[in-house]
Amino acid sequence: MSDPHPKPLLGRVVVVTGAARGQGAAQARTVTAHGARVIAVDVAEAEGCRPLDVTDEQAWRELSDELARAYGHVDGLVNNAGITWRARLTEVRPEDFERVHRVNVTGPLLGMQYLAPLMPPGASIVNVGSSAALTAHYPAAYTSSKWALRGLSRTAALELGPRGIRVNTIHPGFIETEMTASADPAFREANLRETPLGRTGGVDDVAALVAFLLSDAAAFITGADIPVDGGLTAHGGVKSVSDALRAAGAAP
Ligand code: NAI
Repeated sequence: MSDPHPKPLLGRVVVVTGAARGQGAAQARTVTAHGARVIAVDVAEAEGCRPLDVTDEQAWRELSDELARAYGHVDGLVNNAGITWRARLTEVRPEDFERVHRVNVTGPLLGMQYLAPLMPPGASIVNVGSSAALTAHYPAAYTSSKWALRGLSRTAALELGPRGIRVNTIHPGFIETEMTASADPAFREANLRETPLGRTGGVDDVAALVAFLLSDAAAFITGADIPVDGGLTAHGGVKSVSDALRAAGAAP
């Protein structure tokens, strides 16, 4: 009889960055449950997490050498580590702008540069963007970094496609983590109003998509931008118009 709970990632070696908490921790749990050997890394200390600052090239070199020795292959990379900086266009200082870009764009670049050489055909890279990368979001450094990550992902999909390596970008909407908990409550309420599914996301909503993209079920998906946002970015701002007309009892 076939296994009623197959493990689609059995035998895969997967690196997840920013895995000490939040979405990264959930991704590490889910991908492990799907059978993979997960190397969880983070700049913050956490049980089961290896220390690695994604902006540190030497650290990536050492990780790559170690994984080459230990396994000889890496089958998945989730570039999940990211930081926000809630300064608007006229307020953001160049040093903060560059710091955010270094973590959110240079980090994933280094991860791909150092781990892709260990990847066999069928390997998969998932870059974690944001609904900010699909819209005009007000924190200037964060938004521009996530748009840059989209471009980098497309370039990587083009470059690595001939080797059978897939690269996709996912775009979470409002997900309940410490990152969003640190925002003003008005941010949460406004996001809820703009989300057709009428709820915020949980870390497992995102982890399920990551596990799918790492698996062979997604074998023909690369270079894609995939929102996981309850419909937040799909309506392009029309939800408030639709809601206002409904509230007014007006014909559409
Ligand atoms: P979080 O702030 O709870 O977790 C981020 C993790 O990344 C932390 O453990 C942190 O220590 C780690 N990290 C930060 N800088 C690092 C570095 N230089 N090297 C290694 N690790 C580093 O945030 P959350 O919500 O779990 O975010 C995960 C990803 O999802 C980020 O890329 C974020 O931009 C993105 N995202 C989050 C959304 C949300 O609503 N929470 C929405 C859209 C995107």
